Amino acid sequence: MLRTLTAVACATLTLSAAIAKPHEATISADLTQTGPQINKDIYGQFAEHLGRGIYEGLWVGKDSDIPNTKGFRNDVISALKDIKVPLVRWPGGCFADEYHWRDGIGAAEERPVKVNTHWGGVEETNAVGTHEFFDLVELLGADAYVNGNLGSGSVREMAEWMEYMTSDKNSTLANERRANGREEPWDIAYFGIGNESWGCGGHMRPQYYVDLYRQYATFMKAPPGKRPKLVGSGGHTEDTEWTDVLSANIDRDMDGISYHFYTLPTSEWSKKGHATDFDNTMWFKTLERTLRIDKYIADNIAVLDENDPDGELGFYVDEWGTWYDAEEGREPGFLYQQNTLRDAVVAAVNFNIFHHYAERVHMTNIAQMVNVLQAMILTDGAEMLKTPTYHVYGMYKVFQDATAIPFTITTSKYSQGNESVPAITASIAKGEDGKLYIALVNLDPAEEATISLDLKGMKVSSLNGQILTADNITDKNTFAKKNVVKPAEFSADADDLTLPAKSIVVAELVK
Ligand code: AHR
Repeated sequence: MLRTLTAVACATLTLSAAIAKPHEATISADLTQTGPQINKDIYGQFAEHLGRGIYEGLWVGKDSDIPNTKGFRNDVISALKDIKVPLVRWPGGCFADEYHWRDGIGAAEERPVKVNTHWGGVEETNAVGTHEFFDLVELLGADAYVNGNLGSGSVREMAEWMEYMTSDKNSTLANERRANGREEPWDIAYFGIGNESWGCGGHMRPQYYVDLYRQYATFMKAPPGKRPKLVGSGGHTEDTEWTDVLSANIDRDMDGISYHFYTLPTSEWSKKGHATDFDNTMWFKTLERTLRIDKYIADNIAVLDENDPDGELGFYVDEWGTWYDAEEGREPGFLYQQNTLRDAVVAAVNFNIFHHYAERVHMTNIAQMVNVLQAMILTDGAEMLKTPTYHVYGMYKVFQDATAIPFTITTSKYSQGNESVPAITASIAKGEDGKLYIALVNLDPAEEATISLDLKGMKVSSLNGQILTADNITDKNTFAKKNVVKPAEFSADADDLTLPAKSIVVAELVK
């Protein structure tokens, strides 16, 4: 018996009620058909002034013994360049609504020391400010997503920051930027007007925020062609009210609405679950939780389709990822957590969902880039390691700016008790290089899957690419053993395709 779960945009997903071991899935597509572009910014990252994310993780200062360029550690920058980070969001998060940009310009020794009240109450030296952030994105070859302070700032402060960053005139502010070492204005891809304004950004109601947004956005002026995409601070989890109120009441100067969703294994903020010590039950619960974002995005897009039928507004998932209990012995406010094969599967499942909604989802930022939450990289002094999540970003980079190919998938279920999720999720796209790529994820930690490809428009004989899996669900990379979880080569005949348990494959479809 087959039951249709979703029928949206470019793919449909159906579940078989029959218990199949191994799993079975059929993927059908006409490879000559095309869907929306998968915006490269879906692979964006988030770097907040939080814990050891910026300080230590990225920035060590020019005088550090750790090899660096302009204060940013070379090893971390080089690793991040390898996964082609397209976009970095900064300076927060909750931190953004307490950040005053003037604290972070000028001579470093004269910058004020503040208290980072959100994240551990530690001293914030402001050693990394606007100029350093743009150094970072330039070193990475990425675009900038700057998040402004609506919660505790002012319209004037935000407008002046915009002028400081983007003006090409001989204004006092632009000349101050020049005096601080930057002649040319910077390009800003996105600018956020507040963050989580329903919570740490001011505990507002959307009706109140809407008027503030309209006021602030009016004064976000930049030279012709230089204005960033302006981002309204939206809702989270199952909420659709923020999307509704913003899209219905902001009729100019907004390019997209942000949305946040975190994957907590237990779905309880008071006891979220352990990062590395978990069993098959928690593995299932984590994936069940992460898959909820599919419905939450669909619900928000339905609201946008009603209020914005021409599709002018993007839906930006500018914070997502796993969030576990703080590691014992560490400052809880630093949100440092280890990362296992489970995080890699979470990332891949989310990418497949984002691709599915690529018509509206133009940008996302995983939280966060280094040493915080579901990080790409962990550091310990001069040492660094690449997490399983890092490797998924590396494998999926072929999907950046690719063109989605519509497909349908029929898959058996991966069940636990009375609950079930699809055993297999997938993506198909034509890469910028003209090649066809498929991504496949087997969510089940115990059962392999037989995949039937029913492809039209091109005779596909084999798949060539990479696979990420591990012996155990809890496998991770540590400073003692940095390569326990890493991609391996994968190749298979198209008519004899088996996906191992708990694995991710990204492969070219070869004639
Ligand atoms: O990513 C950590 C925090 O989570 C961000 O600062 C905030 O926006 C969210 O609540």
